[in-house]
Amino acid sequence: MEKFIIEGGNKLEGEVEISGSKNASLPIIAASIMADGKTILHNIPDLKDVHTMIKILNYLGAKTKFENNTLEIDPSGIYQFTAPYEFVSTMRGSICLLGPLLAKYKKARFSMPGGCVIGPRPIDLHIKGLKKLGIEIENEEGYIVGKTTKLKGNKIFLGGNFGSSVLATANIICAAVLAEGETIIEFAACEPEIVDLANFLKKMGAKIYGEGSHLIRIEGVKKLNGIEYKIIPDRIESGTYILAGYITKSKIKIEGAITQHLLSLIDKLEEAGLEVYYGEDYVVTIPKEKWKAVEITTLPFPGFPTDLQAQMMSFLTIADGISLITEKVFPERFIHVGELNRLGADITLDGSKAIIKGVNNLKGAKVMASDLRASAALVLAGLIAEGITEISRIYHLDRGYEKFEEKLNNIGAKIKRVKEVS
Ligand code: UD1
Repeated sequence: MEKFIIEGGNKLEGEVEISGSKNASLPIIAASIMADGKTILHNIPDLKDVHTMIKILNYLGAKTKFENNTLEIDPSGIYQFTAPYEFVSTMRGSICLLGPLLAKYKKARFSMPGGCVIGPRPIDLHIKGLKKLGIEIENEEGYIVGKTTKLKGNKIFLGGNFGSSVLATANIICAAVLAEGETIIEFAACEPEIVDLANFLKKMGAKIYGEGSHLIRIEGVKKLNGIEYKIIPDRIESGTYILAGYITKSKIKIEGAITQHLLSLIDKLEEAGLEVYYGEDYVVTIPKEKWKAVEITTLPFPGFPTDLQAQMMSFLTIADGISLITEKVFPERFIHVGELNRLGADITLDGSKAIIKGVNNLKGAKVMASDLRASAALVLAGLIAEGITEISRIYHLDRGYEKFEEKLNNIGAKIKRVKEVS
């Protein structure tokens, strides 16, 4: 295993280029197996999760080639319909293959994805939606087994106790585009990654209306064509670098950040008293010595993203006053709190709320990464902590940030990746 050794206290300066979106890439890669022909995807980030998805596709029988952020997928050889535990357990996002497999091949066997450190991750909405489209689903020895003779369009209410579900929406859209007749999805997720998936499918020949709103209408088509497509930039990576600029009190330019996708973050930074300079596809961080505490509630898009909650918490550890973060998407997603406190933060938890009392500075210590975004939060904290911060188990970061330490080091951070001696 590897760890990061971060020398805190360095200012950042220069430009960071944002990679393609991980969460848009995964469902689009999955959807490409529905094409009659080869698909070429550009701007695919070179990440562990993408490699896991490619491995699953290869296991199913698809041919793939991944070079220089371009992924070619030829699904014509697919002969297997099982996603085994070894893959699904390392990447819960692989569930987005369920809809495409059922739509195109009418059968799928999927290991149940289980929980993870950010809390329970049910799939009831995926199953409910697929059943409505005429798919029989059973649970056999830890596997969800789905089959159908014919998919039929239907009206589906896809809201759950925590609002909409991104990947359930992706699965149902994929299944519905090849179903007979019309499907209406009410309470669909509005995330930009869903819009990107819909744009991709429409280019393949699908008929989708209303993506980006809670009401999506789909007219089923008989077939989809293989196409060439470019993935949108990653809004969570963008937000992480924006926060890296502000927390280190530095001026950096984040190139390729689609600001339309980041307004909830920009709004909170402005509320904290910071100036944010931005255009359509870039952000420049304007440094300031102090910022005010703010209250944040994570919500589905366009609300404040749960995937930026941990990084925002690092930023608020040194704000003036007491901040409050309420986590409404994954109420248990607070595993980073203990680690931030080891670095000198003053955070207490009360159920799904975190109360963050601003301190003057953080101090380097040994901490452990626990999930993807929590790891990014620890890196942000390490950038400002006095002295040395050691972060172990950084393999979590490699799941979702392309060249993370390289991009940060290029603009002045001092992060070393070293082997952990056990
Ligand atoms: C996606 C993102 C993840 C992000 C999350 C929320 C990918 C690969 N992952 O995950 O990074 O944190 O959206 O923005 O795109 N829920 C149910 N029943 C279900 C499905 C979900 O109750 O069948 C609940 C979840 O437990 C959670 C909430 O709905 O409380 C939102 O989860 P969901 O949008 O489904 O997350 P993912 O799509 O898995």
